[in-house]
Amino acid sequence: MIFLYIVILILFLFILFLFTSFLTPLFSKVPFVPVRGRIVDEIIAALELKDDSVLYDLGCGDGRVLFAGVKDFPNRSALGIERAPFPYLCAKIRKVFSKTKNVSIIYGDFFKLDFSPATHIFIYLFPSILDELLPKFEKELKQGTRLVSCDFQFSKRKPDEVIKTKSKDWQTNHTIYVYHF
Ligand SMILES: C[S@@+](CC[C@H](N)C(=O)[O-])C[C@H]1O[C@@H](n2cnc3c(N)ncnc32)[C@H](O)[C@@H]1O
Repeated sequence: MIFLYIVILILFLFILFLFTSFLTPLFSKVPFVPVRGRIVDEIIAALELKDDSVLYDLGCGDGRVLFAGVKDFPNRSALGIERAPFPYLCAKIRKVFSKTKNVSIIYGDFFKLDFSPATHIFIYLFPSILDELLPKFEKELKQGTRLVSCDFQFSKRKPDEVIKTKSKDWQTNHTIYVYHF
């Protein structure tokens, strides 16, 4: 009987995944493409988090960067915001299984979020969205906030550092842009 429930649950999640994939353009202009697991450590290194950092992932997908960022650091906190239902649900499920208290996942639009509490920001978004967000970053971010963007850069602001990921494999060969606000 339990086997039947597991099969129904997997089928339900699969249908939900297909459904939300087709409907993604209704929720967001950027598709849910999570960063590859193998480069998460390189992103965390580029963020240069401190013991008491406050990390935001804008469009957090399944939350993988957030959970990796606070792992073994109980005084760090992380907040992810996501507006597509399927990745949001994945992030919530990840939170339940990880039992991590210092990660919050909220459902919503990052254009309506106050960025000022963040000390570190991670984004993996299209360049047009980065450019739309830049005035909000410049207005709200505290001086010294470190922002790491995977693969895309602002058209009107030069990065302070450009880091090439170590892997040469096409799936994990990325460029990380670092900005200090
Ligand atoms: C390329 S994925 C990156 C996911 C995650 N940050 C990662 O690196 O694994 C971009 C995510 O941003 C979300 N997104 C796009 N626009 C958004 C908005 N205005 N508010 C909240 N989430 C948004 C999309 O739904 C998508 O899941």
